[in-house]
Amino acid sequence: ATTLGASAAEKGRYFGAAVANYKLTDTTYVGILNREFNQVTPENEMKIDATEPQQGVFSYTNADRIVNHARAQGMIVRGHTLAWHSQQPGWMQSMSGTALRSAMLNHVTQVATYYRGKIHSWDVVNEAFADGNGGARRDSNLQRTGNDWIEAAFRAARAADPGAKLCYNDYNTDNWTWDKTQAVYNMVRDFKTRGVPIDCVGLQSHFNSGSPYPSNYRTTLSSFAALGVDVQITELDIEGSGTTQANTYRSVVADCLAVARCTGITVWGIRDTDSWRASGTPLLFDGSGNKKAAYTSTLEAL
Ligand code: XIL
Repeated sequence: ATTLGASAAEKGRYFGAAVANYKLTDTTYVGILNREFNQVTPENEMKIDATEPQQGVFSYTNADRIVNHARAQGMIVRGHTLAWHSQQPGWMQSMSGTALRSAMLNHVTQVATYYRGKIHSWDVVNEAFADGNGGARRDSNLQRTGNDWIEAAFRAARAADPGAKLCYNDYNTDNWTWDKTQAVYNMVRDFKTRGVPIDCVGLQSHFNSGSPYPSNYRTTLSSFAALGVDVQITELDIEGSGTTQANTYRSVVADCLAVARCTGITVWGIRDTDSWRASGTPLLFDGSGNKKAAYTSTLEAL
């Protein structure tokens, strides 16, 4: 096939992009989105500060615009994200203990219920592990409510939307030898053993000089999959340019296709100028919307 989404679909996968609501009026942007992609992730619009700006007051207008655009185009939606230490509204940042636990669970329930039936996969919990050696949980107000906060969030999400796949999503979990990767692996294994409802692991896959694409990436994908969960590449971007960057994109796609339970790839933006990275050219289209070498190698690999 001649587009990323159609080629991925031939392999039983999706190929998606993070989308910002305010860019849906940009005709170049929307033209590429509609032509190339069959999955979207709202880049910020489903985060806690966006969907519950005041406690108990929910706001879905911007997320709905993305969801409605996607559904009208036949694209599936990844929900991002229900419970996270970052991009919390002010009221939640200052909470702790049982009040925070209840507020977090209510948020998960309310948002997952509102979108029930419309979400392919939810990033139920995002970035709950610390970087560096030791594989510890990240210290956060949510973690301080008790180590079981993650499984509590997953149980609430399952009850609210039994049809959505429920994912744990993180970064620096790509290299199989890193402690953080092993810590997430051990949590997922424990959840599967104890019947905590988890269906997928999201590997953000923001590759750069500090955390480059690892040669054991395929081992990481297949090892998680062997636990009985899907794996999804959820926020792919690759620092660099030219042939080197193109070859890394090619390798990432080949690794996903080599693992039966790697069900889809999402790039974190469309054009280089859409990237969350302040500088650099980590995406598949240049600032004018032209296809880069990385686009060509990605399409060839699919
Ligand atoms: C980023 C967005 O791209 C930015 O627009 C925002 O300012 C900050 O968050 N990991 C994640 C994403 O899970 O939610 C982050 O998105 C990038 C890193």
